[in-house]
Amino acid sequence: VELKAKVHPIAGRIGAEITGVKLSADLDPETDAVIKEALLKYKVIFFRGQHHLDDAGQEALAGLFGDPVAHPTVPKKEGTGYILELNAAHGRRADSWHTDVTFVDAYPKISILRAVTVPKSGGDTVWANTAAAYEHLPEELRKLVDRLWALHTNEYDYAANRSKVSDEALRYHREVFTSTLYETEHPIVRVHPETGERSLLLGHFVKKIIGLSSADSAYLLSLLQNHVIRLENTVRWRWSAGDVAIWDNRATQHYAINDYGDQQRIVRRVTVDGDIPVGVDG
Ligand code: SIN
Repeated sequence: VELKAKVHPIAGRIGAEITGVKLSADLDPETDAVIKEALLKYKVIFFRGQHHLDDAGQEALAGLFGDPVAHPTVPKKEGTGYILELNAAHGRRADSWHTDVTFVDAYPKISILRAVTVPKSGGDTVWANTAAAYEHLPEELRKLVDRLWALHTNEYDYAANRSKVSDEALRYHREVFTSTLYETEHPIVRVHPETGERSLLLGHFVKKIIGLSSADSAYLLSLLQNHVIRLENTVRWRWSAGDVAIWDNRATQHYAINDYGDQQRIVRRVTVDGDIPVGVDG
């Protein structure tokens, strides 16, 4: 039987499940078009039961969207070209709102996450639509943020700067991380290169808003971030092994819920090279 891709929206402002697709690097043009259109429209798309995909298959799939790119500081999984493995046992829990790798100038445009081992209960991931967050800001706030820039650094990724990290995670972190400190400035309002939509570019790599004191910056960041993560802007995914999520990293933030204790959770991510964000003034 020939499979036919079908898009099923999940939440009102973000997220769709696509059925009738066996993901691979050589999709027929119609399926390829459905997926790419849904990704721009729904920001994160989900596929169940992709058990046939291995690491190489996931990397090849990423090639459909552009050039895969390895994480700048976390070593890739052995034997792979680009795979970042997030293993909860190693303290890689991603339980903080972020957009991937925004501490570099041209951060990844798309991320592809594959669930390898998931907890019996818990360990869901939530995504927020940062374009909807901008659109629903009051006009006076939109005018203010249109002009602002923020400093992003990977300081956050240094486990020593985090409070709730275990000794084991800290040890692992010291052993495997490349200790290069990255810093860059991005406009807070990013104009999407494909859809033209404006979105709020924030997340846990933001250190401060340029031109404001640390205190003022912290107040304003928390006000804006609260708009991003309003439940109306989010979708939550309950993982099964073999699921794949693909998100537009130019228009989303995400958060992996850390509610599964010592249960195993292993997910693997490949990101696709992006471009330097352009603000409202070009
Ligand atoms: C990530 O932050 O890219 C991973 C999210 C997850 O572990 O669900």
